[in-house]
Amino acid sequence: MQKRLVSGIQPSGTLHIGNYLGALKQWVDLQNYYDCFFSVVDYHALTLKPKPEDLRQQTLETVAMLIALGVDPKNCVLFVQSQIPEHAELNWLLSPFVTVGQLNRMTQYKEKSDRHGQNIGLLTYPVLMAADILMYDAQVVPVGEDQVQHLELAREVARSFNAHAGQTFTEPKPLLNKAARIMALNDPKRKMSKSIAGSAIGLLDDEAAVTATIRRAVTDSDPNSNKMSPGIVNLFTILEGFSDEETVKKFQEKYQDGQLKYSELKEQLIEDVMAFLKPVQKGYQSLMAHPDKLELIIAEGTKKARPIAAAKMALVKKNLGLI
Ligand code: TYM
Repeated sequence: MQKRLVSGIQPSGTLHIGNYLGALKQWVDLQNYYDCFFSVVDYHALTLKPKPEDLRQQTLETVAMLIALGVDPKNCVLFVQSQIPEHAELNWLLSPFVTVGQLNRMTQYKEKSDRHGQNIGLLTYPVLMAADILMYDAQVVPVGEDQVQHLELAREVARSFNAHAGQTFTEPKPLLNKAARIMALNDPKRKMSKSIAGSAIGLLDDEAAVTATIRRAVTDSDPNSNKMSPGIVNLFTILEGFSDEETVKKFQEKYQDGQLKYSELKEQLIEDVMAFLKPVQKGYQSLMAHPDKLELIIAEGTKKARPIAAAKMALVKKNLGLI
């Protein structure tokens, strides 16, 4: 039997190549080898209080983008979190197994609450994420590095719930790839994120935008160090994600020989990133032209996920002593 794989993404505006290289590429690549559950986590997105009409639209857009990238709704369970209300219910049932101290230690909470205020949703977000994962007995969870701390919490929740109520949940393991932390192009000390202007290449960016962002990418190196600078390391990681092996090897050799021109590396990146993005964007546009079809795909996903969630909830409630 295939192992169970679960992952999620927030429908919070344009996705970027960090999301793709860190997580979504693995979703696409692993579909044939795992029993996959992928969700667009709109309950999570509520923590930043998006405008209702934006959230609705961005949820559809995210589903369309996942499919355009190669997530195949026939080959996995692709669903929207709020269509499975059991996630919110499980969130509550897991909350006694998490301490405020654990939640306060979450790096993402510290960052987000500094910017958006300390709402309870932001604080308890990792409990809902644990519910997303434990609901389906995920064995592996492909994510970028920024989610590893949340995943560790999900493991701890499973352990302490099982210790209290008997074997109920599987402990999940993170699945990280080499590109688990794509850095901001204009500031390679920080993570690429859509909230930092100029840091990201959006999956819907046009050639002019991609060209401008890559040409402006920071490559500075420390004159006292002979190590590759963080900006160049990042460009090489992106190159590995989008270019063929031969091209990557050619540029690595040039770097080793001290012959690498950063401008050449950047032009290659622009070409290969665009060669990837153009057909994805075309596919995305044609999916977005038929929202009714997207809604059908979402309904199909709900049909597949809901009975599994309902069965899990019955077990959870029984084990907790709820009547
Ligand atoms: P989200 O929506 O912020 O990001 C989606 C995925 O993209 C990865 N990612 C990155 N990877 C590499 N470099 C970057 N610069 C970069 N930025 C983002 C994230 O690590 C993530 O894998 N809490 C999650 C969504 C979630 C989830 C889940 C994930 C909810 N429930 C259950 C797995 C399992 C989040 O906000 O991801």
